[in-house]
Amino acid sequence: MTMTDKKLVLGMALIDGYGGLHGAWRAPHVDPGTYADVDATVRHAKAAERGRFTFLFTPDFPAVRGNVEHSTISNLMDPLIQLSAVARETTNIGFVVTGSTTFQESFNTARQFKALDVLSHGRMGWNAVTTSDPAVAANYGRPIADRNERYQRAHEAIQIVQALWGSWQEDAWVKDQAADRFIDPSKLQPINLQGQYVASRGPLAIPPSEQGQPVVFTSGGPSPHLLSIAGRYASGFIAEVWTIEEARAQRQLVRNAARRAGRDPDEIKYFPGVMTTVATVVGPGELHADHLQEWFEAGAADGFWVTPDIYEDGVDAFVDEVVPILQERGIYPTEYPGTTLRANLGVPYQYGLDPRSTSAEQ
Ligand SMILES: Cc1cc2nc3c(=O)[nH]c(=O)nc-3n(C[C@H](O)[C@H](O)[C@H](O)COP(=O)(O)O)c2cc1C
Repeated sequence: MTMTDKKLVLGMALIDGYGGLHGAWRAPHVDPGTYADVDATVRHAKAAERGRFTFLFTPDFPAVRGNVEHSTISNLMDPLIQLSAVARETTNIGFVVTGSTTFQESFNTARQFKALDVLSHGRMGWNAVTTSDPAVAANYGRPIADRNERYQRAHEAIQIVQALWGSWQEDAWVKDQAADRFIDPSKLQPINLQGQYVASRGPLAIPPSEQGQPVVFTSGGPSPHLLSIAGRYASGFIAEVWTIEEARAQRQLVRNAARRAGRDPDEIKYFPGVMTTVATVVGPGELHADHLQEWFEAGAADGFWVTPDIYEDGVDAFVDEVVPILQERGIYPTEYPGTTLRANLGVPYQYGLDPRSTSAEQ
């Protein structure tokens, strides 16, 4: 694929429902009760979908953190539950939901994410992170394990989750009323995986979705530990970087990690973050479009996770002022390439565990 026909991919971060701007919840045109209002989330999701955003991204730190007397609780109440409502009101936009490999039970992760993948017709992604936040650890009643343990657990968790996803084989569901045959039981078999920290028997009683199974993402700093996770399993990498040079170097590290795991580096898409303030104050659409294009064409990004300053009008402003410029320049799609998250990201189909991920050197 040449640079000219490659299109950039946008995700929108739904941090807390108010916006990336500190104090967004106090803006006069914002309902301060938005935190508990799923209709607001649906409105912002629909606006992003109008702008052909590929996915909504929800970080997750399930804890009360920071100065909540004056700032918001910077998290959704429960991303999966909130987005299952959004899935019913949208058709193409995907959902990249953060789920902790450290604290969440792998069987629950496998079950909940694949159920929402099926119910949303193939639009789910799992951002697998090795949470090390003390407030989150305290809520689960556990100490924070050291890095080696957290990452060993992450390898086991991702492999077990993907194996569970594949345990209902693609052609297992016979559904033949006349023959009195619901499932072919030889194609719905246990996985019997036992790791050092995580184990599961299976099978998982959920059929494939239109994209097979949820797309795995990861995020964090580019430590060798995280690169081993990214290189083997991830189709998307959510990054926090500040300069174009840093992003280009980090993207190369991520791509090399995929190569080392025996994959094509184009199978993993790299997303730096950007906070946008369009028109009122910081910059017109052109300025934002120039910034995104510069990073994209310098090989510093396959796309971006965008956090508008204030969701209530910032999503529409981005969609009306920035998106048309990117489209005119031919670097952003005018229509969704497909209806699944995989199709819109441009990453390959996968079902079950990728055999390359367990044969590669760690
Ligand atoms: C952009 C970005 C987003 C992250 N999102 C989350 C998150 O939503 N939830 C979480 O528990 N950790 C999140 N993390 C933290 C990482 O998963 C990881 O725990 C943290 O970077 C500590 O690094 P270490 O585990 O390699 O020591 C995020 C990190 C980055 C850089």
